[in-house]
Amino acid sequence: MTDTKPVEDWATDYDIFDAEYVRDPAPVWDELRGRCPIAHTERWGGSFLPTRYEDVQALSKMVPEMSSSDVLVTTPPPEVVEALRNDPVYAKYGTDAAPISEDPPIHGWTRRLLLPHFSPQAAETHREYTQALADRLIDGFIDSGTVDGASQYAQQIPPRVIAHLLGIDESRVDDFTHWVRCVLELGLADDELRRKYRLVIREFFADVVNEKIAHPDDGFVSSLLKGIDHEGNPIDPIMVIGMLNLQLIAGIDTTWSSIGSALWHFGTHPTDRERMAAEPELWPTAIEELLRFYAPVTMARHAAADVEINDVTIPEGSKVLMNFPGANRDPAVFDRPDEVILDRPHNRHVAFGAGIHRCAGSNLARLEMDIALRTWFRRIPDFEVSEPDEVTWAGGQVRGPRYLPIRFPSAA
Ligand code: HEM
Repeated sequence: MTDTKPVEDWATDYDIFDAEYVRDPAPVWDELRGRCPIAHTERWGGSFLPTRYEDVQALSKMVPEMSSSDVLVTTPPPEVVEALRNDPVYAKYGTDAAPISEDPPIHGWTRRLLLPHFSPQAAETHREYTQALADRLIDGFIDSGTVDGASQYAQQIPPRVIAHLLGIDESRVDDFTHWVRCVLELGLADDELRRKYRLVIREFFADVVNEKIAHPDDGFVSSLLKGIDHEGNPIDPIMVIGMLNLQLIAGIDTTWSSIGSALWHFGTHPTDRERMAAEPELWPTAIEELLRFYAPVTMARHAAADVEINDVTIPEGSKVLMNFPGANRDPAVFDRPDEVILDRPHNRHVAFGAGIHRCAGSNLARLEMDIALRTWFRRIPDFEVSEPDEVTWAGGQVRGPRYLPIRFPSAA
């Protein structure tokens, strides 16, 4: 998915799908920060790209001027946005994926409904399951001495944890993964594909919601169905379908990308790998540093009014890419930003966003990363990426490795 015209000036014509940018965007951000910290492009429907930490933070906190109540994907051109707004899927199942797709007041009460399920204590309830899962996955390939760390390990964990959270049978997990990729990754350039799988996901959750309306229990879905909106009315079940849809969209691609990027890092940086194998007490700071350095998520907002920032006017209606990954490499905030420092002492990264939409699932995401990486290192401390040039990366909305060949001394 590339616009084949090469980029001549990144300040006025950036292309977030440029192959080199997908492979390593940091040099572009670095150059832009120095001469044009808020860049603009007409590509992919037109957008603005802030590159400084301070600006990304400020834009995240401008609510409601920077609105989330529209199509949040980073890429589609206006005619696709229009088609999405008129999509029959929306007419039938609603447009929302609350709270990420909402401004106040809907944002507040939908977020509050989710938060108890993602507290540190709630995340802990998934520990035992996630631990057994990580060991089971490694049992499946440890004798072979090779594995695709992306598809056979990283990608297998988050969808199963989400299925566990939602109380849905694990046998549907391969479907989840496929659906999410078709919406968030492959579907960004393919309208038909995205439309098809948006419908598949919403129909799946419509059945789940209907089942819980008929047979309520004390699980996640039933608790959302007890929600009361900002005017005191019971939650519309269509809203719950959107919130469940968000769990897939927000919880799967993101976390597998982070686990995969961490394996990429240690598989290509033997000194860091050896240090982690020898000093497991570094995992808490190392995970924050890997989140900072390989931050996977870029969200989009649209300006609901003209927005003035840093001598730039972002006109009403414009799309702005919330460049959390770029903010994390700003030398004004992070010492030696382009190095992974496993024991970095101060790390106020924005991989989980900032402001009212800051990631609701960050405790669960950290737990999954912690278990996935500690377990890998306990069982496979010595490994390397076998063909670094063959590694493929997804870019755009969520960046992470999608093919990651790894070799290690076989246990057989
Ligand atoms: C390493 C993994 C993850 C990363 C890097 C990540 C990143 C983010 C970011 C940057 C946002 C802000 C979006 C915005 O500003 O519009 C966000 C929002 C959100 N994330 Fe995550 N996320 C991760 C994992 C998860 C997981 C596991 C879940 C839950 C299952 C989750 C649930 C959510 C929800 C519900 C929101 C919307 C919050 C709101 O709008 O108030 N995320 N995430």
